[in-house]
Amino acid sequence: MQPLPRLIIATRNAHKTAEIRAMIGDHFEVLDATAFPDFPEIEETGSTFLENARLKAEGISRCVEGWVLSDDSGLEVDALGGAPGVWSSSFGGEEGNHAKNNARLLAEMTGKTQRDARFRCTMVLAKGGVEHTNFSGTVEGRIIDAVRGVLGFGYDPLFIPVGYEETFAELGDEVKNRLSHRARALAQASDFLKCNYLK
Ligand code: IMP
Repeated sequence: MQPLPRLIIATRNAHKTAEIRAMIGDHFEVLDATAFPDFPEIEETGSTFLENARLKAEGISRCVEGWVLSDDSGLEVDALGGAPGVWSSSFGGEEGNHAKNNARLLAEMTGKTQRDARFRCTMVLAKGGVEHTNFSGTVEGRIIDAVRGVLGFGYDPLFIPVGYEETFAELGDEVKNRLSHRARALAQASDFLKCNYLK
């Protein structure tokens, strides 16, 4: 059997990698930055998901052969003017602390009746330090007033996607990986790679 083509994900977030691997692992050998201890930390200094996704994909693809796919994602809440947006991972004051992020989101949403929100994901595909193309996906939903569920990561326990009554953290990976922002962006990236680069 032919070895699967390798796709490097420009992240150290094990949850993102696990979701991506579950969605396209039959077609690609999915590795992430944790497999390459020498990869640099990429500072996310952009002011949009696309700028940050570009920084990550281009930065990591300078250090490795082959295709690199980045994922920059976050939550936009209408009642908060689109926050936390690109600052989703440090909203609670500490990078990557999901409990603090959720606590701040709950505090900011206290008393708000407008609860509409969406997750947004932008992916950039790069090689040799140069962006080749990019893809985006969103999933609409609403923010509830207390955490529910233990599956997934990040804001999943506070987000109910449109058409459901459970949070992503209650629905679990099987449902989330069918309708999430990441699933929607990744479906396009995967189709693109399969059509253009895989024999
Ligand atoms: P990034 O690593 O800069 O893309 O930041 C992503 C942050 O957005 C995460 O740390 C989470 O706070 C949030 N986020 C992105 N995708 C998801 C998701 O699928 N579920 C829950 N939170 C997410």
